[in-house]
Amino acid sequence: MPAGFQQLGGERVTGTLALSVFTAVLGSLEFGYNIGVINAPQKIIEQNYNATWIHRYKEPIPQSTLTSLWSLSVAIFSVGGMLSSFCLGFISEWLGRRKAMLINNLTAFIGGGMMGMAKLCHSFEMMILGRFIIGAYCGLASGLVPMYVGEIAPTSLRGALGTLHQLAIVTGILLAQILGLESLLGSEELWPVLMGLTVLPTVLQMALLPFCPESPRYLYIIRCQEHHAKRGLRRLTGQQDVGDALAEMKEEKRRMDMERKVSIAELFRSPLYRQPIIIAILLQLSQQLSGINAIFYYSTSIFEKAGVQSPVYATIGAGVVNCAFTVVSLFLVEKMGRRTLHMLGLGGMCLCGVIMTVALSLLDSVPWMSYISMLAIFGFVAFFEVGPGPIPWFFVAELFSQGPRPAAMAVAGCSNWTANFIIGMGFQYIADICGPYVFLIFAALLLFFLIFTFFRVPETRGKTFDQISAGFQRHPAGLMDLDMGMDMDLNKASTELEYLG
Ligand code: GLC
Repeated sequence: MPAGFQQLGGERVTGTLALSVFTAVLGSLEFGYNIGVINAPQKIIEQNYNATWIHRYKEPIPQSTLTSLWSLSVAIFSVGGMLSSFCLGFISEWLGRRKAMLINNLTAFIGGGMMGMAKLCHSFEMMILGRFIIGAYCGLASGLVPMYVGEIAPTSLRGALGTLHQLAIVTGILLAQILGLESLLGSEELWPVLMGLTVLPTVLQMALLPFCPESPRYLYIIRCQEHHAKRGLRRLTGQQDVGDALAEMKEEKRRMDMERKVSIAELFRSPLYRQPIIIAILLQLSQQLSGINAIFYYSTSIFEKAGVQSPVYATIGAGVVNCAFTVVSLFLVEKMGRRTLHMLGLGGMCLCGVIMTVALSLLDSVPWMSYISMLAIFGFVAFFEVGPGPIPWFFVAELFSQGPRPAAMAVAGCSNWTANFIIGMGFQYIADICGPYVFLIFAALLLFFLIFTFFRVPETRGKTFDQISAGFQRHPAGLMDLDMGMDMDLNKASTELEYLG
């Protein structure tokens, strides 16, 4: 085995594969950073909006205007994401995965630059527009990264490498939470630096992308460039003979050539795709409607209400738990499979939601319940990262073959961002109405998604893209049958034999 190669899960990880995955997930890091960055410095930035208002109108900003401007600053990020994720199909086909990531960085520059300069220019409009533009960057990145990583990863490592997208997101969130502390960058003078720092991963990604190969699946199946695809495959696998991988792609291309081009409308009309697209959408909804971002957007006030003494540090604690359990998932996903981990995560979150509710409602009479509610929140986050955090992102890429994949990922991504927006905007209102019982709503939704996953979601571990979509073609209208598990083992066995051979 050549130097610089490592054996992982029976599969070689070459330097090129590692570099390409690392470079791609810098986009995910930036996505996470912008989710987390707005939480801690809220008060300081609000004061700046007020100062701008006084500078312009010679009077303090009315409280209701300030609340609206702040909500807009937070939520417009998801609107940017919603809109751009919908363009994923077109952009990733037209430019290719790698060039699309490269060009998307320009958006990050503009967005980050505007947020960083907003204070200097006395303009909250610039901050809000900047949040919208960076949201648009993140919307595209949230589709391009899992798509690219899923396409360059060897079958047996697709889940583990796919989980790195989420690991980079949670690392970005944690980084933003820490840097946002008032003693670091979350201060009156330095908050523009905190906002502008988002361009750093952009610069690094732009410098590294030219050294990463374009997805060979894209080159071969979509662009019909066999020669370039082979060259990319050789670099990614470190092997001269890439006949097996090419044969698998040829089969996928053969099937795709027999199908018509798949539009978004077609995904819902065709009985072949209806089942997987419903699964894809529901998985994304299970991620967002689990209520996770109620924690990540509003954790400080949730911890305050739960009687926790240092809410800001508890928020960072949640960030650490978030990272740690994503790593756990990384190691489990190729062993236990996507379906089992997703169900485990949903079930655990549901239980923690119920415990949290009980603890919050007993808080007045039993003071130590504040510890229980904090632990329940940590548990909620931990179970999220075991399954519902990482899995939906790469699972959608796995459910579809090359033809319908971009359209399907656009629909799934857009559902994710829309649900994210709804929680971001709506949670505080619902929390005001429901008080300590608010997490019961999430618990009920989680139970529904758990049941759905049990009855409808197939296992994809160890299968090639072609085998997965063939599974749906055999069972277009209904439940993936129970031989799915056996099927999978057979496929795994044959894949292993191929490697031995
Ligand atoms: C997932 C979600 C994102 C959430 C994060 C928390 O990536 O898509 O909305 O904030 O997990 O770790």
